[in-house]
Amino acid sequence: MTASMPSPLPSVNRQFKLAAHPVGMPKESDFAPVSAPLPACADGQFLARTLFLSVDPYMRGRMTGIRTYADPVVIGQVMVGGTVGKVVQSRNPKFRVGDIVTGYWGWQEFAVSDGEGVRTLDPALAPPSTALGVLGMPGMTAYFGFLEICQPKPGETVVVSGAAGAVGSLVGQIARIKGCRAVGIAGSDSKVAWLREELGFDAAFNYRTSKDYTAKLRELCPQGIDCYFDNVGGDITDAIFPILNTRARISVCGQISQYNLGPNPEPGVRPFPFLLTKQARAEGFIIMQFADRFPEGIAQMARWLKEGKLRYRETIIEGFENAPRALIGVLQGENTGKMLVRFADN
Ligand SMILES: NC(=O)c1ccc[n+]([C@@H]2O[C@H](COP(=O)([O-])OP(=O)(O)OC[C@H]3O[C@@H](n4cnc5c(N)ncnc54)[C@H](OP(=O)(O)O)[C@@H]3O)[C@@H](O)[C@H]2O)c1
Repeated sequence: MTASMPSPLPSVNRQFKLAAHPVGMPKESDFAPVSAPLPACADGQFLARTLFLSVDPYMRGRMTGIRTYADPVVIGQVMVGGTVGKVVQSRNPKFRVGDIVTGYWGWQEFAVSDGEGVRTLDPALAPPSTALGVLGMPGMTAYFGFLEICQPKPGETVVVSGAAGAVGSLVGQIARIKGCRAVGIAGSDSKVAWLREELGFDAAFNYRTSKDYTAKLRELCPQGIDCYFDNVGGDITDAIFPILNTRARISVCGQISQYNLGPNPEPGVRPFPFLLTKQARAEGFIIMQFADRFPEGIAQMARWLKEGKLRYRETIIEGFENAPRALIGVLQGENTGKMLVRFADN
């Protein structure tokens, strides 16, 4: 068999279901691998083989069993997640065998779909995996979450936490494109070097080795902070408040440092006195509020990629069986850029 020939279809569909609500950091035993029959394609449907699964921090929240802005995954349900796949059977005229598509069919090797919420990709325009990263949900989170909420102006100082991840690495580069000074906070020296040397961040530091975050930020932001893009919350975010400039804007994107703490989050600073005296604004968002503008965001990000103004990196974990390990890895900082799991080559 040559590398380009599709693999024959198996009789079973391997899936990961939620086995237990995690306490603290998820464990591999919180996920149950099961083998279901390969689903049959009815009229109007197609069958896709998963090529890539996206693993994202929000999945930790879905595992708690508590409804937040979205329904939780219940015990025994297939884990949810964004996917890229190849159509291997079709009884839907809009999807042809061989098409590469992106959707949201979760942690399984195959899925049938009627096409709702599924987008066909053009592999000649960009590698299909980018539909889960720079040209997908994380890219849109960086684009709209930063530009709409922070409204950056040229010459301003932008601080990004979680700066070497899927979203953060793009926010800093968009800040540079908009003429701002970009300062990143990340969890290793090699991530800091990547931000500085390859992505063009003006400054960055490793929060695991520089523990006085406010002092470090004062050093790296001599003009103060105009925009803060928050991916992490906790102590890192507490440190930015004393350095905010008048009319600073904070985009509250994620709080990953708190996701494994359960119902007892850490105590922290009271931010409102800082917001009051600096006439500053902090605003949370859920990226789906911008869903109707995604075509505009994807087109702009694709243009910046083509012009060489934007770079991205993927950390790819091989094999269906390693999906739980990959999600735990994201929560522990094992990724640089977008974390993906490759289930199949074609
Ligand atoms: N609001 C929305 O609609 C929306 C949409 C997408 C994502 N998000 C949020 O955006 C954030 C980034 O998401 P992403 O997909 O781009 O993930 P990511 O940044 O690619 O991966 C998560 C990163 O978080 C860092 N991290 C983990 N624990 C940490 C801690 N205790 N303190 C500081 N950093 C920690 C790790 O990097 P280090 O090595 O640097 O620690 C890890 O690589 C997450 O909080 C996510 O929930 C929100």
